[in-house]
Amino acid sequence: MIKLANKRVLLGVSGSIAAYKSAELVRLLRQQGAEVRVVMTATATEFVQPLTFQALSGNMVYSAWDDADRGDGMGHIELARWADAIIIAPASADLLARLRQGMANDLLTTLCLASDRMIAVAPAMNRLMWENAATQDNMAVLKQRGIHVLGPGTGGQACGEIGLGRMLEPDQLVQDISALFGSGILSGARLLLTAGPTREPIDAMRFLSNRSSGKMGYALAQAAIEAGADVTLISGPVALTAPARAKRRDVNSANEMYEAVMAEVPTHDIFISAAAVADYRPLEFSKEKVKRKANTIDLALTQNRDIVASVAALPNKPFVVGFAAETSDVERHARGKLQRKGLDMIAANQVGDGQGAEVDDNAMTLYWVEGSHHLEKTTKHKLARQMIAIIGEHYHAAT
Ligand code: C5P
Repeated sequence: MIKLANKRVLLGVSGSIAAYKSAELVRLLRQQGAEVRVVMTATATEFVQPLTFQALSGNMVYSAWDDADRGDGMGHIELARWADAIIIAPASADLLARLRQGMANDLLTTLCLASDRMIAVAPAMNRLMWENAATQDNMAVLKQRGIHVLGPGTGGQACGEIGLGRMLEPDQLVQDISALFGSGILSGARLLLTAGPTREPIDAMRFLSNRSSGKMGYALAQAAIEAGADVTLISGPVALTAPARAKRRDVNSANEMYEAVMAEVPTHDIFISAAAVADYRPLEFSKEKVKRKANTIDLALTQNRDIVASVAALPNKPFVVGFAAETSDVERHARGKLQRKGLDMIAANQVGDGQGAEVDDNAMTLYWVEGSHHLEKTTKHKLARQMIAIIGEHYHAAT
């Protein structure tokens, strides 16, 4: 299996003699299917010529401040957004200290500050520099912030000493990086996903809708891409930017979402229904704006078709995952929907009291017929990665 299919790795190279090994790292990352862009600190360019990295990555190398705003239309924020992960190898003592301080005094540290993606560092330095309390203190803080630390290894050093502080070998780094990505569990799978609310029109100006922000669905789209899937995202109206590699189709009403899903589903292997689809729509739509008249008006509603249940009832159905947002008795309601709608899995959470639709943190329990898995409260991005790992496992077990 190509472990890094679809992955975009921003490789940061800082000033250490181990920088020469990163040339091999670029080659191995690409061999595993990753797209690689290299950012070098000024000191790194004294150890290795940018041209080496340009030739091996197939992309221009960024080093000076304005490099990211030149040539290929990637401003530095674009470059930060482009990456699925920032891997800094080698990470010198100086780079780690600057990272810990949140400094933005060169392009690489600025990109790290401007990124909400996974960051990993592969330290490389003399043994005494590594053991120094200042470095150890920096590492403790970086780890606490969720930055992954790969190595260092032990052995002979360029300075002639022996001990901890060597950068890990490139083949080991590629293995560790693949593991961080969750091993491409959806490599080659085609995944269809709905996200966001729907709008059910009342008249030319008004609609019925709900509080869904689309954040969970968009985070799942990103996590699925990182896991190697080809993603089609059918989105209700949200204020979010779709991951660059997702194919996005925008819809408004539940009816439009139904049509879009049914058109796409035959070419997909997995369907995740994260949208908060309105259960009802106004029975009648008025082309003219409804005028204010009496104190109360009646609005007759009629039921929308259930999209996820319709997909699950198809003869060649994909692996189907639904959501259940419940205000009470979460497991009973979730299991009821799992069975009634014929789903393979359902992701359930408690809503209300500041949990669920509009917030960034969430907890979730996944249920399937024979089991369940609880995911502790964390950011929707982390939750999405954990969900995709479990969905991937069950999808493979079912096919
Ligand atoms: O029944 P309930 O609306 O709670 O079910 C939620 C699940 O069903 C979600 O996965 C949602 O996307 C899906 N759903 C649907 N079509 C509807 C209503 C809900 O696909 N009309």
